[in-house]
Amino acid sequence: MLNAVLNKEHDEARQGEAFAPFAADPNAFKKHFYIESYGCAMNFADSEVVASILLENGFGATTDFENADLIFINTCSIREKAEITVRKRLTEFRKIKKLRPGMLVGVLGCMAERLKAKFLEEEKLVDLVVGPDAYRSLPGLIEEAETGQKAVNVLLSRDETYADIAPIRLNSNGVTAFVSIMRGCNNMCSFCVVPFTRGRERSRDAQSVINECKTLFEEGYREVTLLGQNVDSYHWVDEQKELVVTFAMLMEQVALISPLLRIRFSTSHPKDITDDVLHTMLKYENICNYIHLPVQSGSTRVLQMMNRTYSREWYIAKVNRIRELIPDCGLSTDMITGFCTETEEDHRESLSLMEYCKYDLAYMYYYSERPGTRAERRFEDDVPLEVKKRRLQEMIDLHRMHSMQSMQRDVGKICKVLVEGTSKKSEHHFFGRSDHNKVVVFAKDNHKKGDYVFIHITSCTAGTLIGSVAEKS
Ligand code: SAM
Ligand code: SF4
Ligand code: F3S
Repeated sequence: MLNAVLNKEHDEARQGEAFAPFAADPNAFKKHFYIESYGCAMNFADSEVVASILLENGFGATTDFENADLIFINTCSIREKAEITVRKRLTEFRKIKKLRPGMLVGVLGCMAERLKAKFLEEEKLVDLVVGPDAYRSLPGLIEEAETGQKAVNVLLSRDETYADIAPIRLNSNGVTAFVSIMRGCNNMCSFCVVPFTRGRERSRDAQSVINECKTLFEEGYREVTLLGQNVDSYHWVDEQKELVVTFAMLMEQVALISPLLRIRFSTSHPKDITDDVLHTMLKYENICNYIHLPVQSGSTRVLQMMNRTYSREWYIAKVNRIRELIPDCGLSTDMITGFCTETEEDHRESLSLMEYCKYDLAYMYYYSERPGTRAERRFEDDVPLEVKKRRLQEMIDLHRMHSMQSMQRDVGKICKVLVEGTSKKSEHHFFGRSDHNKVVVFAKDNHKKGDYVFIHITSCTAGTLIGSVAEKS
């Protein structure tokens, strides 16, 4: 049955993805690297920068880690579980290294930044530890490690944005791409490790963002997702201090590249998203009507302890404003259950907020205490694990209902779908995404990857809309 077969493309959990081999003569490279990425889209985008730096310095990419000369693991520290996954993976790499002693293993990204040189003591097999702002030094560090020394660079920078590096889209579908517009975060949410692993917020040169998007469009890409931990605080000032570019202005410039280039963005902080951004979304048909607006909790008391700087009422007012200006706006969120001191009453407030917002998509987690964060230093992680998990399950059950309702609301509608590729489950079907970021599956007909196709939605599963072509596009 189609429904049963085709609902798997909706897979947001990107864990441990490896790059595909670079399509060039494999003998052209002195050595080969393998890179595996964990965590958020920004980390995946960073791996593309790393690949670019390595290729520029004579290393070729491979997906065959058993035969790689260098294995890199680009890590995430956001929750304890993310770090446990990386440690397990390193154990597997250790076995290979025993067979191939000359091979080097490098830890990149947020866990490298959090643990620094301690990593080398804890994981004897690791040869390089490189933080997110130090990737330019990778070629030198590799040379150092090749002489048998352990190589570490975890310096955070106030201005590194890798603006001049053209990321290598090695594992790409050729249609959609991530474009980093800023790095770091200044927000200091009390539960979050990101300000410590990624450093201070800085915006990337607006022109370099626009150029990268233009190049992508010329290469056939049809969708860019502008990335930052807090995109609405994007703020670029040119060297002469004459030109200030806000996020709304940047998004407009990207939208003007071509009406055929779709624009998404992530993540918006509720305190920073402005009417200007909403008006710009309204003005350009190619900016998707979809906002990821993490709330984290529905209780003002908990939000205060989280240092989110808004109340439940303020968040609701923001959602109302979005719906007033863009009635057809898809909305998603992040939620945490069992944060320090969270009571059943606080939890019910989170559920009732979700009931109010009826998110199309929600990423839900139970609180995981992270060393060095404000919450770890100031509050007791006092909600028992089984309570955190039970609350999370209640939240997931509620959201499942909302997301199913959201999918069902689309049945009977016509959606504009950007074709991303052949469905994993049926070679006769394409899959793509609607404006609201929902996966849509339909029979191939004469269309091709990168086309926009109007699809009449006829049915749905929990994660996929199913339909047929409504008109030639
Ligand atoms: N910058 C974005 C924001 O402000 O929402 C996202 C940051 S983080 C990469 C993604 C999500 O992970 C957060 O929105 C939060 O829900 C979750 N998260 C962060 N720290 C966490 C922790 N210590 N325990 C559980 N979930 C956490
Ligand atoms: Fe973490 Fe808050 Fe920054 Fe998001 S805004 S990355 S949750 S500190
Ligand atoms: Fe993880 Fe670092 Fe992203 S902690 S979520 S990879 S910014």
